[in-house]
Amino acid sequence: MSRLAEVAKAMVAPGKGILAADESTGTANKRFAPLDIPQNEEMRRKYREMLFTTPGFGEYISGVILYDETIRQNDSRGKPLAQVIAGAGALPGIKLDTGTVALALGGPDEKVTEGLDGLAKRVDEYLKLGAKFAKWRAVIAIDDGIPTHRCIHANAHALARYAAICQAGGLVPIVEPEVLMDGEHSKHSLERSFVIHEWTLKHVFEELASLDVRFEEMVLKPSMVIPGQRSGQKASSREIAEATVTVLRRWVPAAVAGIAFLSGGQGNEEASANLNEINRVARARSAPWPLTFSYGRALQQPAIGAWRGDDANVAAAQTALAQRARMNGLASLGEYSPQLEKQPLLAGAGR
Ligand code: 13P
Repeated sequence: MSRLAEVAKAMVAPGKGILAADESTGTANKRFAPLDIPQNEEMRRKYREMLFTTPGFGEYISGVILYDETIRQNDSRGKPLAQVIAGAGALPGIKLDTGTVALALGGPDEKVTEGLDGLAKRVDEYLKLGAKFAKWRAVIAIDDGIPTHRCIHANAHALARYAAICQAGGLVPIVEPEVLMDGEHSKHSLERSFVIHEWTLKHVFEELASLDVRFEEMVLKPSMVIPGQRSGQKASSREIAEATVTVLRRWVPAAVAGIAFLSGGQGNEEASANLNEINRVARARSAPWPLTFSYGRALQQPAIGAWRGDDANVAAAQTALAQRARMNGLASLGEYSPQLEKQPLLAGAGR
């Protein structure tokens, strides 16, 4: 097995998943603001140090996606945070896209992700800073008349160019085509989400194949097939899992090392329950890849709420993160149940 294939396999190791802690400065500040946490570099550093030094971190977390600012920061004793993560038994990764801009000639609210210029050089630099894998997020919004073919094509092509540059330079690419679930559109049903996921994944894998991206050396980070938050439609975990596994089995090659979902605005326990059901359906249908989490909000929300920027709350915040990591680790094995939520972890304990 190639070195990159080994890294990809470790990212989706049984019972483990990825912590997405790569919020840009703007997004991190947006999460701090309602909790009255000062919005500055030192507080963002402290917050990330708190997350990565959670006792038992590496038991359920295989890797952490970092933002550029964070991969250059040290812990309070001067050790690079990337080394702190490695010391906890997880792999450091880096967000490589530079965000989204309005898509030229696209539909209203359509975006394309940027960051390809000079990317090979940035890959070299991040490798030296300890990164083993990378992420690039494309967003596809559903509304009247969108997505357009232009939007899907432009984003799929950029994802494939990024993935090829990563593999050539020595990083495992996480390929993230996110179909947004928070659209305003009332007709954003489960069925429409399914159709847009099909369209998106088909194009993404066509572009990846045409640039000879090696599937064994990548991880797919998709959204789940879920009705839009304002659709008024409620779908059960079983319906979401059936739709999600069907679309993935149809369009994702068996050689892909693994699939790690984003949470995308689901509730914390909802994200665990849905991942669990997806694994149960996947097992019953002999899906070929491990299916795990690469959550941002659904892992961090309780932890940031407990921390609130106060050193006195570090143990409580770490316990909250360990709880979500453990619940999602179990969900990635199809062994989660809501009853387990009622058995809180001891303060500071990973298990
Ligand atoms: P959420 O789980 O909060 O959607 O974030 C995951 C992520 O990395 C989005 O790019």
